[in-house]
Amino acid sequence: EMRNTEVGQLTASAAEEMCRQPFVIGVAGGAASGKTTVCDMIIQQLHDQRVVLVNQDSFYHDLTEEELTRVHEYNFDHPDAFDTEQLLCAMEKLRHGQAVDIPNYDFKSYKNVFPARRVNPSDVIILEGILIFHDPRIRELMNMKIFVDTDADVRLARRIRRDIVEKGRDIATVLDQYSKFVKPAFDDFILPTKKYADIIIPRGGDNHVAIDLIVQHIRTKLGQHDMCKIYPNLYVIQSTFQI
Ligand code: ADP
Ligand code: C5P
Repeated sequence: EMRNTEVGQLTASAAEEMCRQPFVIGVAGGAASGKTTVCDMIIQQLHDQRVVLVNQDSFYHDLTEEELTRVHEYNFDHPDAFDTEQLLCAMEKLRHGQAVDIPNYDFKSYKNVFPARRVNPSDVIILEGILIFHDPRIRELMNMKIFVDTDADVRLARRIRRDIVEKGRDIATVLDQYSKFVKPAFDDFILPTKKYADIIIPRGGDNHVAIDLIVQHIRTKLGQHDMCKIYPNLYVIQSTFQI
């Protein structure tokens, strides 16, 4: 009987821990595949929940003066281009109910600019980025992993338009970067992480059925979290039976 009480207490604190932790969704895929669009659609449908979006882009390393002089030789699609330790640190804080300042990355100056974005702890955290499934420590934080799968020609066409219009780049630079870094990195680092996905969305934001199903699943999971907040003992009972 003594042992049962101990098990009960242990499980109760584990259950409490589970209740407090946000539901973390990872969204990966090639550049311009539609990751941000998919995230925005999910957030829109979850308007009645506390949801935050954290972009891996925010954690790009600042370029040194030397790197800045030869920016066309810099590989922004390699896992080492990101400060993954800082991302892990921010996630750790968010998961434990603390607010964090997420750096504000400027694609034009290749640097973090002020002010940083204050992000409050939420019920759902969406982590988005080309290489967000690359580091196993970040993958382990995720309750659900989505890979946005869009054809390479569509991604390139969107990228050309976006980089010219939004980043003020010229077509020669965009195409050069694409063949030198973007395409090889997609094949070597991004595509191999597709196997970690729970869900693969073809056609990105055009795929309304996939988005609806994902939102439904998130709502079910959040409902279970709410149940556990109201009746933490349910988890204890469940776990004790499993033991
Ligand atoms: P990612 O976050 O993967 O880089 P985005 O969602 O930002 O991709 O989309 C990249 C570009 O393509 C943006 O300019 C966006 O407006 C455009 N785009 C995204 N999805 C679609 C779509 N389904 N149809 C047309 N344009 C799209
Ligand atoms: O938003 P998205 O996932 O498309 O952003 C990733 C892309 O941004 C990468 O393919 C990378 O080449 C590009 N990038 C860039 N210039 C920077 C930082 C990233 O072109 N300064």
